[in-house]
Amino acid sequence: MKLLLIVSMVQFIAMFRENHNYFKYFTMVHIIDLIPSALTAALKEAKKIVIFTGAGASADSGIPTFRDALNSHWSKLNPYDLASPEGWEKDKELVWAWYEGRRGDVMKAQPNKEHLGIAQLELDTRYSVSVITQNVDDLHERAGSRSVLHLHGSLFSPMCEKCGKSFKFPESPPVNTPKLMPPNCQVCDHAIRPGVVWFGEALPQDVFETAEKLALKSDLFLCVGTSGVVTPAALLPLAAKNSGAFVVEINPNPSDIKADLHWEVSASEGISRILEFVISLRK
Ligand SMILES: NC(=O)c1ccc[n+]([C@@H]2O[C@H](COP(=O)([O-])OP(=O)(O)OC[C@H]3O[C@@H](n4cnc5c(N)ncnc54)[C@H](O)[C@@H]3O)[C@@H](O)[C@H]2O)c1
Ligand SMILES: [Zn+2]
Repeated sequence: MKLLLIVSMVQFIAMFRENHNYFKYFTMVHIIDLIPSALTAALKEAKKIVIFTGAGASADSGIPTFRDALNSHWSKLNPYDLASPEGWEKDKELVWAWYEGRRGDVMKAQPNKEHLGIAQLELDTRYSVSVITQNVDDLHERAGSRSVLHLHGSLFSPMCEKCGKSFKFPESPPVNTPKLMPPNCQVCDHAIRPGVVWFGEALPQDVFETAEKLALKSDLFLCVGTSGVVTPAALLPLAAKNSGAFVVEINPNPSDIKADLHWEVSASEGISRILEFVISLRK
């Protein structure tokens, strides 16, 4: 009797080993439980996916969102004084020091499962995946994403405030201090400013136009970790939706983004589950 039971179990396991579909079936059941069905349906149909990321996408790497950063040791500072041309004119040493502190924090951080998962999705031949970010860090690139559209510039591309000439940072890590004199431009001697887009400044036109085209052509548009309040970037999900894309928000605290689906999970959790599902489709 015991032997019969063992033989049947061996046969049972062999049957599953031979027939990948059983495995696929059970894996799918498991993964489907973890992803809203509307999203799995969209992932099966989609060809062009746009992933639109905000500060929440880097939160799992320990990079504070704008709000969190202001709640920490910078809490007494006014965001406008740190991120506007007027704030820059008022106190360049304060602004330069703040951005150098942030650059140092980013250099110490590592890409999380969201950044790494997106880079993996880009390799899937089923899709054409584009990454549009509002983030000024380089975690998508360090995770392996090949072409990332930075709508709001980058902490790593400072430039002359007057002539726009780019500036190369020294190899030494940035110092963390309340005030720091910005370096001077080698061409015109004006101050070097952070290469990020501040309140009241225009987005780089070519980057925004490319982002808009991608949004309009996408069939699945994922908004990951953004409050969707900073325009014109926040207009992209709406443009995508109006042109027929299925728009999904991945955020533990859903925003007012006009999404078809608000999925209340963290960026790393959401993208990991999507990747797992996409891998299961390949089997
Ligand atoms: N890492 C960066 O480069 C960085 C960091 C801070 C701010 N910013 C700038 O601040 C501006 C603010 O706009 P924003 O919408 O990007 O940020 P935001 O601070 O306005 O909103 C962050 C959003 O992320 C969500 N969030 C928090 N933790 C999350 C997680 N683990 N997973 C998923 N979502 C999570 C929050 O609920 C919130 O909706 C942007 O223009 C951006 O350039 C960039
Ligand atoms: Zn210059």
